[in-house]
Amino acid sequence: MEFETLVRDRRSIRGYKSDPVPRELIDAIIETAKRAPSSMNTQPWFFHVITGEPLERIRRGNTERMLAGAEVQREIPVHPNGYEGIHRKRQIEIAVQLFEAMGIERDDKERRQDWVMRGFRQFDAPVSIVMTYDKSLEPATISHFDLGAVTYGLVLAAWSRGLGTVINGQGIMQSKVVREHAQIPDSQVIMTCIAMGYPNHEFAANQVQSRRTPNEEIVTYTGFDE
Ligand SMILES: Cc1cc2nc3c(=O)[nH]c(=O)nc-3n(C[C@H](O)[C@H](O)[C@H](O)COP(=O)(O)O)c2cc1C
Repeated sequence: MEFETLVRDRRSIRGYKSDPVPRELIDAIIETAKRAPSSMNTQPWFFHVITGEPLERIRRGNTERMLAGAEVQREIPVHPNGYEGIHRKRQIEIAVQLFEAMGIERDDKERRQDWVMRGFRQFDAPVSIVMTYDKSLEPATISHFDLGAVTYGLVLAAWSRGLGTVINGQGIMQSKVVREHAQIPDSQVIMTCIAMGYPNHEFAANQVQSRRTPNEEIVTYTGFDE
């Protein structure tokens, strides 16, 4: 697929077919993704690919704990107050786009709750990939950057092969559950996860094209002729 088309067509997929994804295909996608650059070629990343019964156990564990109001357990620091200002505005914008596509009304608490729970279930995708890095690298801001690069590589490599993904924090909010069922060693830090599978094209939210800020607001050019 042409690069420009690949990047512009890709979008997060939140509804999947139940068809399994062959292990060899996932392996090929990771081969491509790991060509990502990293600081000093440290390649700090690990990919924990989970499917079948262990993934079902993670879905159940996440759901039970989130419904019980358990405290969120994340392993990387996040802003305690959530997003504010322009970042909050953008967060709301994409949520409104998704809810509109799904026909979920503002005051429909039940369907909104259902939507949030889908995230904790990894959007019922057949595969989840938990991304971790070596704990010995902490404080690991540069490794976070490296994991971002390899994760985007993975998402694009998957899309080019007809697979959808959504990078998501929801799936690792109960990190102890994930750690236990995916057998992640204590020497690694959980960064994020990626739900993956064949897109269900009937699922309305999958058509949503998220917006981007115009270049004028985010780019400065210095030293160019007018
Ligand atoms: C680090 C990270 C965490 C994310 N967490 C979630 C999440 O928990 N739930 C979700 O539905 N989407 C999540 N997303 C997907 C973003 O909402 C999505 O990438 C953004 O709205 C842009 O849309 P697009 O991917 O369709 O271009 C996450 C994306 C990133 C990069």
